[in-house]
Amino acid sequence: MLMRNSRTTEYGIDPLFLERWSPRAFTGEPIPEAQLFTLFEAARWAPSSYNAQPWRFLYARRDTADWPRFLGLLNAFNQSWAKNAAALIILVSKATLLPSGSDKEVPSHTHSLDAGAAWGYLALQATRLGWAAHGMAGFDVPRAAEELGVPSDHRVEAAIAIGKPTDKSVLPEALRAREQPSGRRALAEIVREGGFRPMR
Ligand SMILES: Cc1cc2nc3c(=O)[nH]c(=O)nc-3n(C[C@H](O)[C@H](O)[C@H](O)COP(=O)(O)O)c2cc1C
Repeated sequence: MLMRNSRTTEYGIDPLFLERWSPRAFTGEPIPEAQLFTLFEAARWAPSSYNAQPWRFLYARRDTADWPRFLGLLNAFNQSWAKNAAALIILVSKATLLPSGSDKEVPSHTHSLDAGAAWGYLALQATRLGWAAHGMAGFDVPRAAEELGVPSDHRVEAAIAIGKPTDKSVLPEALRAREQPSGRRALAEIVREGGFRPMR
């Protein structure tokens, strides 16, 4: 069952886009492996340059041996709420690709973009299943690369907390006030016909 919220749009879109948001109040409920893999499955179907699929998902589920290591990569602020998440993911992208018909890897211009698309798919699928996916830049990137054995031709992109959303009353006061779906810039601010400097 999808929760409705107060977000409004300038044009009609699928409600799923508005229902996905980034809560911090989680129940602490563990996620069944099959549900987590349903999120990775959705991510797998994102488009990518040359269909190179450069996204890599490193994860730990709560109450497992890997959990403390992943939680320990987050900064103190993110740990304060993500400790109640069900899974933590470090999203990595492979920075080179093999063009079709070639036997030599070349730098990919779009590896981060492609991984971002996959993260978006994962987040929407999480919403659809009653989970929430919350992206995080607040973590120790070099330590994540080191501790998780990320190869040098890969880029550590972001951390993601997956959790079962719950009432904001579980959060400390300061976070409670921020626990609501955010708005967006107007379309006129982010879309230009004909380029930044249109021809006159
Ligand atoms: C790549 C990325 C990094 C983020 N980093 C953090 C973070 O470190 N801590 C946090 O609490 N939220 C973080 N966020 C959540 C954003 O603040 C949030 O997505 C944004 O305000 C839009 O709100 P919404 O996702 O609820 O629509 C991050 C989101 C993304 C996509």
